[in-house]
Amino acid sequence: MYRLVYISTPKPDISRTDVEHILKAGRKNNAKNGITGLLIQDRRRFLQYLEGEAAQVEETFARIASDSRHSAVIQLKVGYIGRRQFPNWEMASKYIDDVDSLLPVVTDMVKNCDRDVAQELMNFAEARDRAA
Ligand SMILES: Cc1cc2nc3c(=O)[nH]c(=O)nc-3n(C[C@H](O)[C@H](O)[C@H](O)COP(=O)(O)O)c2cc1C
Repeated sequence: MYRLVYISTPKPDISRTDVEHILKAGRKNNAKNGITGLLIQDRRRFLQYLEGEAAQVEETFARIASDSRHSAVIQLKVGYIGRRQFPNWEMASKYIDDVDSLLPVVTDMVKNCDRDVAQELMNFAEARDRAA
């Protein structure tokens, strides 16, 4: 199993409807491409975790990276992991209001994951909380 994690900056005027469209197209494509994962958004950042077959993940990420609804796409982590972590989620999503901290949300989302993957996502959440 191959996973890729990135952060990006939503375009300034992004709306809830934009994000709903992203999720709808994403879930449809991901189901077809054997990709699962999560997309977390607050007003300043997207954090996305994608997993699946390497070629499919890279192809999907290339498509996502050129999407004009976000910019400053930065890969945080890429490579092989033991098993699929989110077998039931074509793309789980959470919108976090500015006042909330990301860590409790992410901690809850990764509770069925292997410890190392869970830890890595919680570390990103913590770093973001510190920067917020
Ligand atoms: C933050 C963000 C996350 C996205 N996540 C996915 C995804 O997980 N899977 C996917 O296929 N497209 C995703 N997209 C959408 C792609 O960039 C692209 O618009 C879409 O795959 C095109 O699908 P279509 O050709 O079926 O319309 C995402 C876009 C953004 C901005």
